[in-house]
Amino acid sequence: MDRPVKIAAFWPDDEAGIARARAIRVEVFVDEYGVIEELDADPLDTAPNTVHLVAWDASGDLGTARVVADADRDDVVHFTRVAVRAEARVRGVGRALMHRCEEVALAVGRRRGLDRVTADLSVMDHAADFYRAAGYTVGAEAYIQVRIPHRRAHKLLGAVT
Ligand SMILES: CC(C)(COP(=O)(O)OP(=O)(O)OC[C@H]1O[C@@H](n2cnc3c(N)ncnc32)[C@H](O)[C@@H]1OP(=O)(O)O)[C@@H](O)C(=O)NCCC(=O)NCCS
Repeated sequence: MDRPVKIAAFWPDDEAGIARARAIRVEVFVDEYGVIEELDADPLDTAPNTVHLVAWDASGDLGTARVVADADRDDVVHFTRVAVRAEARVRGVGRALMHRCEEVALAVGRRRGLDRVTADLSVMDHAADFYRAAGYTVGAEAYIQVRIPHRRAHKLLGAVT
């Protein structure tokens, strides 16, 4: 990473924080990948078990991710809406976001009395190697979601390896 990146966390009642995350998501998912804006802004944005992350540096906001604790399974946390602005890519911002997602997921698990949680993701096919490089197991089967090929990915967090 050539410039230090900071990561801010926003809770679902923080409209200004969510607006920062959504500005990046619109730029990446809506403008770049053609996802319909209403599909990107789903009700999980304001669900009580959601945390929004925004990576930023002196130049401004760089990337975002959304951590959603599973409503039914205490040991499962979903990482969604991982996006880094095109001009900020391949300098470690995405990896820093994943690291913070994992810290948040483990904190959620600890609050639920667990020292291990599974991160569960639905990842865009083209980004599978990014997740593999971060230690995620990516499923063999591709499926279409919002007209884009995706695969499931997961990683057991907190495990002694
Ligand atoms: C995928 C994405 C989040 C990666 O963010 P990034 O900031 O560029 O990633 P990093 O710089 O932290 O890269 C970490 C590692 O993954 C690799 N990597 C990054 N993007 C990759 C990709 N698309 N395919 C394969 N490897 C990739 C990097 O080379 C780096 O490897 P290294 O540590 O060996 O050098 C970013 O490219 C992006 O937002 N893409 C568009 C939206 C998207 O696909 N989001 C994911 C939805 S599931």
